Amino acid sequence: MEANLPKRKETRKSMRIKVISMGNAEAGKSCIIKRYCEKRFVPKYLATIGIDYGVTKVQVRDREIKVNIFDMAGHPFFYEVRNEFYKDTQGVILVYDVGQKESFEALDTWLAEMKQELGPHGNIENIVFVVCANKIDCTKHRCVDESEGRLWAESRGFLYFETSAQTGEGINEMFQTFYSTIIDLCDNGGKRPAMGMSIGFTKEQADTIRRIRSSKDSWDMLGVKPGATRDEVNKAYRKLAVLLHPDKCVAPGSEDAFKAVVNARTALLKNIK
Ligand code: GTP
Ligand code: MG
Repeated sequence: MEANLPKRKETRKSMRIKVISMGNAEAGKSCIIKRYCEKRFVPKYLATIGIDYGVTKVQVRDREIKVNIFDMAGHPFFYEVRNEFYKDTQGVILVYDVGQKESFEALDTWLAEMKQELGPHGNIENIVFVVCANKIDCTKHRCVDESEGRLWAESRGFLYFETSAQTGEGINEMFQTFYSTIIDLCDNGGKRPAMGMSIGFTKEQADTIRRIRSSKDSWDMLGVKPGATRDEVNKAYRKLAVLLHPDKCVAPGSEDAFKAVVNARTALLKNIK
């Protein structure tokens, strides 16, 4: 038995992966990486200049993985430096600050920048993305709630974690899940499971929740014209209720959206003869 051990160790596959961080300046990308790799937090803001590069070894299940981390600068000024580093990436840590709405809204722009740099053959489908809703320790300033962030991430097939580089909350869990998802993907020949199967809700449900959240009044929420009849209101309500009923819909935010629709209908019917 004993004599077999070294041999088994030699044949175990070692892996090397490349991950990058993306997100607006000051969202906390460098602090998240520092918290995980060095177990510390630096309160003073030291903007990353261009790119910071580091190598770290991590254990994922029985595998030892060498991770090359490219920590990108979020400031637009560094675009020219960043754009070289998108290729051959297996994992992306996409960070926003839960107290800065713009940093959340900028996530689409970051994805677009990456897609543009990778070009039409970039195969972005086979990259693992983890969205970090960071600075959750700053509860007073929070303006992007969990269901909004989770919906954005999960409707794209991305992982989602609530993190604080300051307290360390969520950081280890995030990295462990992130790395093991990358390893699973590599073992699976680089193929992600089909979107619909992995997320459990439809694009229509996700889009409807988003539309409801941003609607300006009860008419708008139900998708009917101001002055609509009782029948029209009830018909619109029934359609939304079927789509969003919490027994049927597991999309983040569906419960709140459903309640909002119920309230909107009640408010409208009160005033319609
Ligand atoms: P760039 O390198 O300019 O793109 O910024 P970055 O995204 O790397 O941000 P960085 O990690 O340097 O953090 C920006 C500021 O936010 C620093 O002052 C950090 O101390 C602070 N910060 C980062 N994460 C957290 C957090 O979880 N909670 C709190 N309270 N502050 C944080
Ligand atoms: Mg940085």
